Amino acid sequence: MGLSSPDDAAIWRLSDEQAIVVTTDFFTPVVDTPYEYGSIAAANSLSDVYAMGGRPFLALNIAALPDHLPAEISSEILRGGAEKAREAGVVVAGGHTVKDKEPKFGLVVLGFVHPQKIISKSGLKPGDLLVLTKPLGGGVTTTALKQEKVDEVHVAEAIEWMSRLNRDAGQLAVEFDARGGTDITGFGFLGHAAEMAEASGVSLHVEYSKIPLLSGARGYAERGIFPGGAFDNKAFCEAMVTFDEAIDEPAQMLLFDPQTSGGLLFGLKREKLDVFMKRAEELNQPVWVVGEVRTGKGIEVKP
Ligand code: CO
Ligand code: CO
Repeated sequence: MGLSSPDDAAIWRLSDEQAIVVTTDFFTPVVDTPYEYGSIAAANSLSDVYAMGGRPFLALNIAALPDHLPAEISSEILRGGAEKAREAGVVVAGGHTVKDKEPKFGLVVLGFVHPQKIISKSGLKPGDLLVLTKPLGGGVTTTALKQEKVDEVHVAEAIEWMSRLNRDAGQLAVEFDARGGTDITGFGFLGHAAEMAEASGVSLHVEYSKIPLLSGARGYAERGIFPGGAFDNKAFCEAMVTFDEAIDEPAQMLLFDPQTSGGLLFGLKREKLDVFMKRAEELNQPVWVVGEVRTGKGIEVKP
């Protein structure tokens, strides 16, 4: 998998029992503390393996660092990445660094997945409930940080969520036999949802009131502090989305807000909901049922 479908990682079957998952991701700093930046970049790189139902086991660093960057800052970025990988049970076995004006960091990640348990963007089925595992609003919050308009409490909250591994969310998706899923990153909630709706040949029905948001997100959205990517995402998939008239402009834009290391979005069989909620609590994994999958096309957002 990986050449023709828009999935989160490439998959290579080794045997009937085992396939290897390969992915990479890296980006410029989203926060101004080096350790947290490393940790978020690593959680984000690992996320694509979890999004496909896999378990990561090995990683390599990819870094581009400015010549003049003090050594203690570069080592904090790498330490943040290495400790997040260790939390995931993943070994970072080296990597490669080049010089560049703006820092960039991420991981190449290898994981294993059972060939029958792969989660893909094309696996949603009518009747599934849509489960989201992290709140939205990372893009507006980190943009407010860059523009120095942010409340520090909101930064701390965003960092906590962005550095959170999608390991237990992925574990839940696998245990409950999800077949359709992805992680919410640069295309925003609706961009990734639109990809899944199209790849699965279904329509998605989202209830806005069920969507979790970071505490500062609505406020920054009302002040229009969106990253450029939010408008690109809107242009890209707006034709597929019908908003109820009660969903105002800031609310619509929050659904297009690009996320860094966002949560998983996957389909859950409705009859499993009660057991699923209990298991999520056991794993201490927050989950929100934000809508459902039906036949048809496109995405409808209701209050
Ligand atoms: Co992804
Ligand atoms: Co990715």
